[in-house]
Amino acid sequence: MTNPSLLILPGDGIGPEVMAEVRRIIGWYGEKRGMHFDVSEDLVGGAAYDAHGTPLTDATMEKAQNVDAVLLGAVGGPKYDVLDFSVKPERGLLRLRKEMDLFANLRPAQCFDALADFSSLKRDVVAGLDIMIVRELTSGIYFGEPRGIIQEGNERVGINTQRYTESEIERVARSAFELARRRGNKVCSMEKANVMESGVLWREVVTKIGETEYPDVELSHMYADAGAMQLCRWPKQFDVIVTDNLFGDLLSDAAAMLTGSLGMLPSASLGAPMANGRPKALYEPVHGSAPDIAGQAKANPIACILSFAMALRYSFDQGAEADRLEAAVETVLADGVRTADLMQNEGETPVSTSGMGDAVLAALD
Ligand code: NAI
Ligand code: MG
Repeated sequence: MTNPSLLILPGDGIGPEVMAEVRRIIGWYGEKRGMHFDVSEDLVGGAAYDAHGTPLTDATMEKAQNVDAVLLGAVGGPKYDVLDFSVKPERGLLRLRKEMDLFANLRPAQCFDALADFSSLKRDVVAGLDIMIVRELTSGIYFGEPRGIIQEGNERVGINTQRYTESEIERVARSAFELARRRGNKVCSMEKANVMESGVLWREVVTKIGETEYPDVELSHMYADAGAMQLCRWPKQFDVIVTDNLFGDLLSDAAAMLTGSLGMLPSASLGAPMANGRPKALYEPVHGSAPDIAGQAKANPIACILSFAMALRYSFDQGAEADRLEAAVETVLADGVRTADLMQNEGETPVSTSGMGDAVLAALD
């Protein structure tokens, strides 16, 4: 049997710094758990632009299409702000998402007990929170035609179009129901069927998929604005939330902040199953390249480490190993180990990026 393959794209800024810690964790799984990966590494974003004049070469794209999972750090930085839009670092990431057709973006909002006081909400509202937002990522208003700014009489009109086909709704709904079966067995679908036809279709299609293919999963519906309120009021009522690209963008950012620091948030973007049954997959922290702290060994590697835990769970069917890694992170936080972004009190001494990596490895041992 061949080892599962991983393509690592560290990217820019703190990307390579946090990814270095993930590489040590991957090494640990090989050495201590006999889980070996064929790891290759390549450039993306500004790093790729510097080397090749493009934020993602065709060769790297080809590799990404043929591995079991891609793990990405972050792209971008002030150095690249002057570049033409077509070669900006972000274009590399967008190309990966688009050509791999990663239509389901998974953003967990999970509250580690040790950080519950970090939230802007009360401790008992967030303690133990573990929800998953599934955002449709490749269609909807960010892509629909017609779009543009046109002249109409004596004024200009800005136009974007929300457009969803039944099959686009079906596939993201299936992703959400599949996830729910591995979690709390509940899906809440959010749209605005009260004012949008695309929402009416969304609700109809999700209901049909639920009734015909996942009758064992509890399905509810909520208007997205009401959903936003409920997320702030009592987020623990949810398990999996499935929603469109636009509402998902807002709701996942809002849900993320229920639990505190950007340095803690992982994500996965999944596409259709490949020949080996594994989904096309890209795992990355939610944060960017953090130019303000890059090169200072201050970055929190946990978001990237938890992204690898998601890879273990969703690409490699190693849920128990993912639990092990998440438990190690929980232990480290409970022990009071903090990178600078997690400091709450004056006088605490933060650990460095590799110091946090050391602590997670020690907890794994
Ligand atoms: P950012 O996420 O890079 O940073 C926002 C703030 O959070 C900064 O103060 C940063 O120091 C802090 N932060 C982020 N990650 C952290 C970590 N792991 N540990 C400790 N502190 C952390 O977002 P920003 O500043 O808006 O963007 C910086 C660059 O990153 C831009 O070029 C932007 O385009 C790019 N970006 C890339 C993304 C990606 O690769 N997926 C996502 C968001 C932004
Ligand atoms: Mg956003």
